[in-house]
Amino acid sequence: VTRLRLYDEKSGDRPIAETADPDEIAETLKRAGVRFERWEASRSVAAGDDQAAILEAYRADVDRLMREGGYRTADVVSLGPDHPQRAELRQKFLEEHTHSEDEVRFFVAGRGLFSLRIDGHVYEVLCEAGDLLGVPSGTRHWFDMGPRPSFAAIRLFIDPAGWVASFTGDPIANRFPRLE
Ligand SMILES: [Fe+2]
Repeated sequence: VTRLRLYDEKSGDRPIAETADPDEIAETLKRAGVRFERWEASRSVAAGDDQAAILEAYRADVDRLMREGGYRTADVVSLGPDHPQRAELRQKFLEEHTHSEDEVRFFVAGRGLFSLRIDGHVYEVLCEAGDLLGVPSGTRHWFDMGPRPSFAAIRLFIDPAGWVASFTGDPIANRFPRLE
């Protein structure tokens, strides 16, 4: 189930606060400058559906967000637990990094764990199907898809070329929970 845990950035073993209430998650993240929304499909979708069908099911929200955020392209990425490169793909974003582009993800299916470091706190968001998270450009964060990843997500970009990770070199992520 979707969940937000708030930590002091110095202690990854003891959350200060925790909630599974979507409105409270959205409010808390909004105060930190982070967008969180729950979207509903206009028709049923499955993780294996093709990209066009998935985008079509969420078209109203995708179009609205593109207008609001100035995003120009949208695609769908999906990963299954038997992907041969799952360990490397998981490793890629496990350490703290930033992007010069917003990282906007809508989970069509499956789950993923985002941790955002903002003003001395870490906001750990367990995203499940139906969740939209927008990590603003420049925000320190890390992402864990778990040892057996399973998700399909819509991604929005201003320019996909801008979405490269710039690693901070800070080992903070190692002190915080992983997705098991
Ligand atoms: Fe990222």
